[in-house]
Order: sequence, then C-alpha cells, then structure tokens
Amino acid sequence: MSFKVGQILTITGVPNPESTNFAINIGNSPDELALHMNPRFDAHGDNRAVVCNSYQGGSWCQEYRPEGFSFNQGEEFKITLPDQSEILFPNRPGAEKYNYFHFEGEVRIQGIEIK
Ligand code: GAL
Repeated sequence: MSFKVGQILTITGVPNPESTNFAINIGNSPDELALHMNPRFDAHGDNRAVVCNSYQGGSWCQEYRPEGFSFNQGEEFKITLPDQSEILFPNRPGAEKYNYFHFEGEVRIQGIEIK
C-alpha cells in the first residue's frame, strides 16, 4: 500500500473509551514521517487538541495545531486527507509517495482507503 501525491487517504476508527491520545503516522520509515497526526484528549499537557507534525533528520519539526477537535472517546471518526474543509498539512519531505503507515495510542482503526 502506498499513498501518492494527489491521492486522498481516508481513515476510520474509534478511540478507546479511556483514550488519552492516539496518532496516525505516514511516511517512509519510523525515522521519516511526512505526517504525524496526534489527537490528544489529555496528553502531553494538552486537552482536546490535534497536533500535526513531521519527523525529519532525527527530530520533530514545527507543530501545526489546527482549530477544533472533532474526536470523542468511544465514538467513530472519519478523517479524509487532504480535504479543504479538513486538515491541510504540507508535504514537507516532498516525496512523491509514502508507504509507511503506523498507528499508535489508544485507538481501534477500522479502515484505510486510498483513492
Ligand atoms: C511531542 C510528543 C510526540 C509528538 C510530538 C509532535 O511532544 O512527545 O509524540 O506528538 O510532540 O510535535
């Protein structure tokens, strides 16, 4: 599975009832993440905040914190990227495709669709 420039990735899942946070990581390896999207219910000093970042050259880059928080513990979510009405995050590493997908934290991923 790979996610190429111009494609739309849709992820559905349910955060655990006691979830403190979870993350969706997309890149080429654990050491190079084009997108780390981390909804935080209560984690890293944040309450109900979404933190996006990339991880390059061994460190986190500049965080982007979109407004709003449309996740609820125990409730299904659907994220579509990229989508004008949703989170827009630049392709910082600039690669044409990414084939590393990693999910972490308290979440049950139900589906991934690439179109
Ligand atoms: C850190 C956190 C990482 C990642 C990063 C994003 O504080 O430990 O897991 O979320 O923020 O900038």
